[in-house]
Amino acid sequence: MTMSMVMASSHKIFLLFFFITFLHFPTTQAQTNLDSSCSSNKTFAANSAFQSDRTTLLSSLASNNTTDTEFYNATVSSGGDTAYGLFMCRGDVNLTTCHQCVVNATQRLPSECRSSKEAIIWYDECLLRYSNRSFFSTVDTRPRVGLLNTGNVPNQASFMRTLYDTMNKTADVAAKPAVGKKKYATGTANFSAFQTVYCMAQCTPDLSPSDCRRCLSGTIGDLDWCCDGKQGGRVLYPSCNVRYELYPFYYQSEASVPTPTPAIIPPTNTTGSQGKGGISSSIEIK
Ligand SMILES: *[C@@H]1O[C@H](CO)[C@@H](O)[C@H](O)[C@H]1NC(C)=O
Ligand SMILES: *[C@@H]1O[C@H](CO)[C@@H](O)[C@H](O)[C@H]1NC(C)=O
Ligand SMILES: *[C@@H]1O[C@H](CO)[C@@H](O)[C@H](O)[C@H]1NC(C)=O
Ligand SMILES: *[C@@H]1O[C@H](CO)[C@@H](O)[C@H](O)[C@H]1NC(C)=O
Ligand SMILES: *[C@@H]1O[C@H](CO)[C@@H](O)[C@H](O)[C@H]1NC(C)=O
Ligand SMILES: *[C@@H]1O[C@H](CO)[C@@H](O)[C@H](O)[C@H]1NC(C)=O
Ligand SMILES: *[C@@H]1O[C@H](CO)[C@@H](O)[C@H](O)[C@H]1NC(C)=O
Ligand SMILES: *[C@@H]1O[C@H](CO)[C@@H](O)[C@H](O)[C@H]1NC(C)=O
Ligand SMILES: *[C@@H]1O[C@H](CO)[C@@H](O)[C@H](O)[C@H]1NC(C)=O
Ligand SMILES: *[C@@H]1O[C@H](CO)[C@@H](O)[C@H](O)[C@H]1NC(C)=O
Repeated sequence: MTMSMVMASSHKIFLLFFFITFLHFPTTQAQTNLDSSCSSNKTFAANSAFQSDRTTLLSSLASNNTTDTEFYNATVSSGGDTAYGLFMCRGDVNLTTCHQCVVNATQRLPSECRSSKEAIIWYDECLLRYSNRSFFSTVDTRPRVGLLNTGNVPNQASFMRTLYDTMNKTADVAAKPAVGKKKYATGTANFSAFQTVYCMAQCTPDLSPSDCRRCLSGTIGDLDWCCDGKQGGRVLYPSCNVRYELYPFYYQSEASVPTPTPAIIPPTNTTGSQGKGGISSSIEIK
């Protein structure tokens, strides 16, 4: 091993400690905007009917009529194009956080997608989308986004087998929830004596169980594309998403598999698409 390699790895170890220390503080993190996508070939003119429909739609999604729900769909039509929209919060966040996230999303999306007739924004805690076409109860798998934690796991092939197995089981549960429950599930597996993989899967609740499972199969299939051998990753579709990490990244208030002993907390930062700091990065899969 050359000197510079030794220095590089001790630098890495230093960083690891830094992040472990950092992450031990309770993180009441502000909502993280993960990504957004705006139709560029479907646009509306300024002051068109669609623009005012969108405004009405977004304000109804963000209104305090929706503070007691984690999923809501709405339709606004004032002649001409109709605006369809929905939001969904991550299955484990509380109503307060959910509503805050939705309000944030409704403020940000129109400024990012000024004249788009179709758009979506993903946050850590929620997603929000609208279109001039009716997309309720349909599986939409595009646009899609992959986000990964760039750290590698040591035994990649065996890790990915464990991951797929756990993710598949988690997806089965998410797709067929008990009556009145969200299409959301978490699952864990002990990958080694020291490492546990934490998985999450969720669909918008307007999908049928079979559509939900089909959507999740797509995201799971994309995991080796975006995140093969990585310590963490997510695949986000408009209709469903999956995520895994080597640390518990979700709140465990919902009934789920018992928490294993805390695993090694890896450095992670999946805040954004730019991958600032080189700790994480995002790839847009086309
Ligand atoms: C806009 O682009 C998307 C993605 O390239 C395509 O699927 C869609 O058909 C296009 N829509 C129109 C109205 O051209
Ligand atoms: C809120 O709900 C009430 C009735 O439940 C309805 O009359 C009102 O229009 C709703 N407001 C918004 C902004 O959706
Ligand atoms: C709805 O919001 C308005 C102001 O934004 C507030 O005055 C009103 O009390 C809220 N209603 C409920 C039921 O929370
Ligand atoms: C919400 O979506 C369902 C289909 O999943 C549809 O039947 C219903 O009309 C929608 N509600 C609104 C207010 O758009
Ligand atoms: C909701 O969750 C957030 C983040 O975990 C927490 O700070 C807040 O106290 C919770 N609010 C309620 C009402 O439980
Ligand atoms: C919106 O998100 C920012 C962080 O990006 C956060 O500081 C702020 O409190 C949020 N606002 C609302 C209304 O949720
Ligand atoms: C949505 O808007 C696009 C672009 O204006 C138009 O081509 C398309 O027909 C509209 N879709 C629907 C379902 O109205
Ligand atoms: C997970 O499910 C997919 C199909 O959705 C299948 O191809 C794959 O073999 C399964 N993997 C495991 C480990 O069960
Ligand atoms: C993982 O290991 C812990 C302790 O070693 C145990 O309590 C837990 O049940 C295991 N979890 C799974 C999913 O096997
Ligand atoms: C993650 O990255 C963002 C922006 O690059 C930064 O503001 C934030 O402090 C980082 N968080 C952690 C846990 O390093």
